[in-house]
Amino acid sequence: MTNLIDTEAVLEWFYQHGRHDLPWQQSTTAYRVWVSEIMLQQTQVSTVIAYYQRFMARFPDVQSLASAPQDEVLHLWTGLGYYARARNLHRTAQMICEQYQGEFPPDIEALTALPGIGRSTAGAILALAMGQRGVILDGNVKRVLCRYHAIQSWSGETRTLARLWQIAEDTTPQKEIAAYTQAMMDLGATVCTRSKPACSNCPLQSGCEAYNQGITSQLPVSKPK
Ligand code: ADE
Ligand code: SF4
Repeated sequence: MTNLIDTEAVLEWFYQHGRHDLPWQQSTTAYRVWVSEIMLQQTQVSTVIAYYQRFMARFPDVQSLASAPQDEVLHLWTGLGYYARARNLHRTAQMICEQYQGEFPPDIEALTALPGIGRSTAGAILALAMGQRGVILDGNVKRVLCRYHAIQSWSGETRTLARLWQIAEDTTPQKEIAAYTQAMMDLGATVCTRSKPACSNCPLQSGCEAYNQGITSQLPVSKPK
């Protein structure tokens, strides 16, 4: 494959410019990382923070969440939207307690079998909380990869998605997996933004195909009508 992302440069950028004070980074248990990832699936960081803190104060561990009445879980979710997320969260907490004695299983198949946990969320839990080589491909990372590799098709298309997953797998390093994972999310959220990416502050600039071709504003390609 063509020029792979320089993960050393990404890590160096992260230590200097990444986000290190988000509430879910303070103690990275699987439970805390999982709740944060579910909240962040469709809601932006600035909104999630206060919800996350209230949620953790009321449900500090998977047992307290599993044994709560569903009303109370939904109540703490009010305003975040996409309420199926809250119902899946509750159900998954119960399954973790019933099937896994309250411990998240450290493998991708078992994690993705749980309600609401897709491949990228499972990858984030593995990488951020379990020190395992989990691979993520969320919206932020898709945008970075589509630009870096100048991918000219919509990421919702099956073949393009498969290609992006392959690139994500090939790029993910063997070491410093948690830092690398958070770094790629941060890069997408703060530098390689949807509009007007800050390429002059980007550690990937020299290898970035979209930048080198002057087409960053045309990528990623949006859904065909
Ligand atoms: N979006 C998804 N996961 C995230 C994380 N761990 N930190 C910040 N934004 C995110
Ligand atoms: Fe994104 Fe620009 Fe960095 Fe390329 S150089 S990855 S377009 S911010």
